[in-house]
Amino acid sequence: MELKDKYPKIQAVLDGESEGCIVCADCLDVMKEMPDGCVDAVVTDPPYGDAETHGKHLSTVVSRQALGFNGISKRECVQLAARFVEISKRWTVFTCEWHFLEALHQTGLLVRFGIWRKPNGAPQFTGDRPGMGWEAIAICHPVGKKRWNGGGKHGFYMHCTETGGHPTQKPVALFGEFVTDFTDSSDIIFDPFCGSGTTCVAAKKLGRRWIGIDINEEYCDIARDRLLGLEGKRLGKLQKHKGFFDVED
Ligand SMILES: C[S@@+](CC[C@H](N)C(=O)[O-])C[C@H]1O[C@@H](n2cnc3c(N)ncnc32)[C@H](O)[C@@H]1O
Repeated sequence: MELKDKYPKIQAVLDGESEGCIVCADCLDVMKEMPDGCVDAVVTDPPYGDAETHGKHLSTVVSRQALGFNGISKRECVQLAARFVEISKRWTVFTCEWHFLEALHQTGLLVRFGIWRKPNGAPQFTGDRPGMGWEAIAICHPVGKKRWNGGGKHGFYMHCTETGGHPTQKPVALFGEFVTDFTDSSDIIFDPFCGSGTTCVAAKKLGRRWIGIDINEEYCDIARDRLLGLEGKRLGKLQKHKGFFDVED
C-alpha cells in the first residue's frame, strides 16, 4: 500500500491540497512510506533522557515510564537522524542528548550542534555541582550546498521552558526560531514526534505547512486543539474539529 492509501492526510499536505495535518501513528511506520526528499525540513523533539543517561537514578526512570514513552538510545538516534535527512530536502533540526552528538558527528550527518539555554531551568538541587540549564540541538543536512536564514548568527537559542498539556512540551518561541532560521515561507515542516504540536503551531504561525505525528492520541488531540487556537478549552470532539482541517489518522 502506498502513502496516499495508508495516510491520505499526509499525502494531501505533500500534494499542496491541505495546509497541515496531525496524524496519530507510529512515525517509524509512516517514515517507511514517505518518499525521500518529500518535505522541506524535519524539526522535531524525539523522546530522550532515558535510562541510558540516568540509569542509576531510579526516580528518572520511573518518571520516564510515567510519561508513557521511553527515551531513544544513541543508536536509535543515529538511525532516526539518517532517515530524517533522507526525508528532508534541506535541514533536520532536533533536540537530543548532548552525548549523542559525537555519534551523529561520526556519521557525517551533523553540520553543527546548537544549544538551547533555559534561563528558568531547574537548579542543581543537590548543590554539589553546576546545574545543567541547557539542552543540545542537532543540526543536520544532506551533503551539498547549505543555506539558512540566520546569516552569521550563532546556534545559541535562549528561551524559558513552558508548561502545557504535554509533560515535555517545548516553548513555541524556541521552535519558532528554528522554523524562522531553517525554513522558508510555505515550506512543509515534518515533526514525527510532535507531542502537543509545538513545531506545528510555530509552523502555522509563521506561514509554513506542517505534518505532525504522535503515537499518543491524547497528545494528538492537544495538538489539534492548539492549532485551532483552542488550547485548554474543551469542546465536544465533533464540534471542535469539524470543517477546519484534517484530524483523522
Ligand atoms: C519529547 S515529546 C515531544 C514534545 C513536543 N515537542 C511538544 O512540545 O509537545 C516526544 C513525543 O514522541 C512521542 N512518540 C514516542 N514514540 C513515538 C513513535 N514511535 N511515533 C510517534 N510518536 C512517538 C511521544 O508520545 C511524545 O509525545
